[in-house]
This record gives sequence, structure tokens and C-alpha cells, in this order.
Amino acid sequence: MPDLRAQLAHDLSTARDRTLLLTGHDQPELLRQHSPLMSPLVWDLAHIGQQEDLWLLRGGDARCTGLLPPDVESLYDAFTHPRAARDRLPLLPPVEARAFCAEVRGRVLDRLDRFGPDDDPFDVAMVVSHEQQHDETMLQTLQLRTGPALLGPGMPLPTGRPELAGTTVLVPGGEFTLGVDGIDEPFSLDNERPAHTVDVPAFRIGRVPVTNAEFAAFIDDGGYDEPRWWSERGWQHRREAELTRPQFWGPDGTRTRFGLVEQLPADEPVQHVTAFEAEAYAAWAGGRLPTEVEWEKAAAWDPATGQRRRFPWGAADPAPELANLGGHALRPAPVGAYPAGASAYGVEQLMGDVWEWTSSSFRPWPGFAPMLYADYSAPFFDGDYRVLRGGSWAVGASILRPSFRNWDHPVRRQVFSGVRLAFDA
Ligand SMILES: [Fe+2]
Repeated sequence: MPDLRAQLAHDLSTARDRTLLLTGHDQPELLRQHSPLMSPLVWDLAHIGQQEDLWLLRGGDARCTGLLPPDVESLYDAFTHPRAARDRLPLLPPVEARAFCAEVRGRVLDRLDRFGPDDDPFDVAMVVSHEQQHDETMLQTLQLRTGPALLGPGMPLPTGRPELAGTTVLVPGGEFTLGVDGIDEPFSLDNERPAHTVDVPAFRIGRVPVTNAEFAAFIDDGGYDEPRWWSERGWQHRREAELTRPQFWGPDGTRTRFGLVEQLPADEPVQHVTAFEAEAYAAWAGGRLPTEVEWEKAAAWDPATGQRRRFPWGAADPAPELANLGGHALRPAPVGAYPAGASAYGVEQLMGDVWEWTSSSFRPWPGFAPMLYADYSAPFFDGDYRVLRGGSWAVGASILRPSFRNWDHPVRRQVFSGVRLAFDA
């Protein structure tokens, strides 16, 4: 399987290039607790190596000692140490963390060289996904950080079609296949499986995500002062957290993005809103948030063939003209920037740009079976978690699928989270 091996080696190195870019800062930046919501960057760095050591060099058996002594390895257990306390742990200094990650990676690549038909490439893909997800987490940390800009303005993006803002498309009612199986998507994670048929009543969905200009109109109309647009819990949170606008927006039409203060781009999807703000906006606009099942149907189903598409646009892998992914733009693209990325129903920008809040709680699909990393999904089912879909600009292109499910507390907004509207048909 030389092609698959080369692909996995490439995906590992793409993720590592990004990790090293995001942790290529002076020691104080890496050790600092930039926010109680996030880890010090040096924790993420060594944790990436520790998980790779565990899953790829020890087959997930934590009783085997890895490259780190057990007392050091235990510092990187995400379930033991809350994020807010990680800066007080005796963490590996940056130089040692980098050397550890490089040592693990060297051994993993040696193993990949000897990859045979009996080796399961899923574990490697899972580790790529884990590293890419931590790269996005580190971008959240860097966005919360205060101080002079470290990352620059980001790569250029295509121009948009702002006239699409506020437009919707109809998704007719009927059955579709929700979720995927390993046979079709071998690298899908446990919570995306199994594929099963569901019947979805007709609905309308936003052709593009809600823009900054649209969200500003909600604020200007007094949306944050009007409890009728908010759920009871959302209103309580709005008051307690004193929310008055999306996170990182200034009062003067500016926003701060990775240390740069700039005018809010009117046609860019709004980001950094809680699920409660997303719901309130949707109610004010006469709509609601989509369920995650509606979202996936709009993204993946092709009514002409009666089959799922691999991506909204078809079978081709993500590319710069199809979606804003990979993390180097450092912002969402303006709405309408990716006409070639439209789904069968004509819905655009479903992959990349902003994670889209849904109205759904995080639950297993019927027939759920945990994967090797058994604590990836199952501990979070039935908790206070809301599903987000579609990935943001910060997501690695190789790990995303229309079936990919992200989840977070509805009060979180350091996530690159935005809004897409839905309406009953
Ligand atoms: Fe992790």
C-alpha cells in the first residue's frame, strides 16, 4: 500500500509543519496561560507527541511505558488536569517538548516504512486528526492572547458574492443516509458511524453563513436587550456574562484578530458567537438553527443519484477553490467565495470558514461502537454539549468530512463558530 503510506506520511508532515509554526514562539509565549479556557501552548505541543506515542508506538496500551517517564507522561492526560491549571504543572520546557515530539515522529515514520497489509491505517489517520484538532485549539489560544501580533494577516482569499447573504434554498422532504460506514470512509471517527436512513421533513437553509453585517443589524436593532429573541437559559447567560456583541468585536466597528485591530469585514461570516447568540440571531431573523441532521442532508445528499457525496461538491479532495481550510487564512472567506464548492442543493461554504452551531445535542447514532480511542466521543454523550458542523478555516483539510461532528458547551465562543439559518418549509 505505497500510495496510502505516502498519503499518511504527507498528512502527518502537514500537521507537524502547522504545529511547529504555531509553537515557534519565544519561551514565555509558550509557557503562559493566555486564558483559563485554554492550555499553555507548550502543553498542547507535548500532548500531541504523547498521544502519538500512545496510539502509534504502544497500540493504545497505557500500561506500557512510552518515551516519557510515567510521572511526566501523566501531566499530559487531558482528563486528569483541567486546562486552567496546566501552567502550574512541571511541564517539559519547549526545547524538550520539541525533541520528544521529533523522537516519536521518527519512530512512527520508521514503522510506517514497514507498513504491511495487516496494519490498520486508521490509527495513523486518527493521530493526524488529533494533531490537526490541537492545531485549531492552539489557534484559539493565540486569538485569546493579548499583545503584539505573532501570526501576520493571513493568506489571501477569493472575493465573495455578497448578494447571496440572506438567501435560502429548499431541501425537499424525504429519506437520506445519515452518517457513514468504515467501508466508505475508513478514517471516519466513531461518532460519525454507522450510516443509517432517516426521514427529514422539508426545510429551507441559508445558502451561505450569516455575515458580520447581518449580525450587526441584529445588534443595532437592540437584539442583545430583547429577551424575546433568547431562550431562557441563553438570556440568563447573556446577562451574567454581559454579552453585548460577538467576542473580539470592538464598540466602534472594529475587531481584533490575532493581535491586529481592523475594520469588521461586512461580508465575512460572523464568528466567535455562543450557541445562545446564534439562536437569538436566528429567532430575530424569523428562523432557527438547523438540526445537525438537516445540516448533513444539505451538505452530503445528492437527490439526483439517491446517494451521499463524499464532499458537498462531489468526490474531489478539498482544494483552495472549493473551501477555506487548513488554517493559513487566519479568517473566514467572504460569503459567496466558493461557488464551485456548492452542495447538490446549492448550499455554499458548508466546509471550512466557520463551524456552524446546530440545535442538536451531542448523542450517539443508533448502533454506535467506540473506536480504539474509546474516550474520544462516549464520555461527552448526554452532557451539556451542542454539535457544530462543517469545520472552520482553521481545520486541517485532510481530516474533515460532511459527517464530521464537533461539540462544545453552548456558552463557548473562543471557537471559530458562526451561524447558518434554517426555516421550516
Ligand atoms: Fe488531545
